[in-house]
Amino acid sequence: MEEGSQADRAYARVARVWQCPDAIFASGFILRRHARIGIPACPEIFAAGFFVMNNGTLIKIESVSKQYGAPRDGVLALREVSLDVRAGEFISLIGPSGCGKSTLLKMIGDLLAPSAGQITIDGHTPTEARRARKCGIVFQAPTLMEWRTITRNIALPLEIIGAPRAARDQRATELLDLIRLRDFAARYPRELSVGMQQQVAIARALAYRPTILLMDEPFGALDEMTRDRLGQELLTLWQRARVTIVFVTHSVAEAVLLSDRVAVFTPRPGHIGRVIEIDLPRPRSAETRNLARFVELVRAIRATLRELGAK
Ligand SMILES: Nc1ncnc2c1ncn2[C@@H]1O[C@H](COP(=O)(O)OP(=O)(O)O)[C@@H](O)[C@H]1O
Ligand SMILES: [Mg+2]
Repeated sequence: MEEGSQADRAYARVARVWQCPDAIFASGFILRRHARIGIPACPEIFAAGFFVMNNGTLIKIESVSKQYGAPRDGVLALREVSLDVRAGEFISLIGPSGCGKSTLLKMIGDLLAPSAGQITIDGHTPTEARRARKCGIVFQAPTLMEWRTITRNIALPLEIIGAPRAARDQRATELLDLIRLRDFAARYPRELSVGMQQQVAIARALAYRPTILLMDEPFGALDEMTRDRLGQELLTLWQRARVTIVFVTHSVAEAVLLSDRVAVFTPRPGHIGRVIEIDLPRPRSAETRNLARFVELVRAIRATLRELGAK
């Protein structure tokens, strides 16, 4: 790593041990735990084309439960959740606060292990998928490195895995074009609005061409107009980057506007009560909201949330 500050080097060390640059943003707790037990860096065991995209199931979640803490006084966050995520689809998870949506996303990304049941990603364990860098993760806060330019933030995951400079620069430029922020290549995060910073975080998550993008309320901290605009940008990017997106949101309208399907959770212990197909035509735009079917679907999901016991 060139011109690395001490923070960069510490970051790289942890990410290397963990084989997942995004993971560092997830949870200090998990990082510390993994550092302590000293999981060794794993060799690149995945040949190109290992994960073949098809129109079948990409992520298979089978009777997954998650208990935090001891069975007696801990929290049962999720109860027997089953869901098949199709390759290439945009699926949203919606449900009351605390029903385990983030927990499920973290288990797909191998940031947490299920207490029961299993998750497979194209037939492989989440750990194997993480080592093959199949998942990019985006959280609510952009968590950019403020001392790095936008380009160098986007290229950071590639730097950590030791990609040559030319390849890093090329990919960063491609991604800057994808999020339409090329003019900001040499700027620093503080010079960008929060919405733009979040776009940079999305670009960073795409740096090593993941098959799956896991997004946990990525627009939750933004005002409504920025949120709508970024939703549109995300749809364009989803189509161009051909990734499968698992998207957690609190907004029913946002879920309907963006998704192919919406999985509706019960309150904790979270369980998927119903999966609703969003049969609205694509491409979608602000006008989609005016369609009678849009309004109908929003109503149906709200009714389902109520039925399942959400306040
Ligand atoms: N590390 C943890 N330790 C103990 N309980 C946790 C932990 N993380 C989440 N929980 C609990 O698990 C439940 C589900 O949390 P979470 O997955 O964050 O829900 P959501 O994202 O749907 O709001 C919550 O009740 C939360 O308090
Ligand atoms: Mg959450």
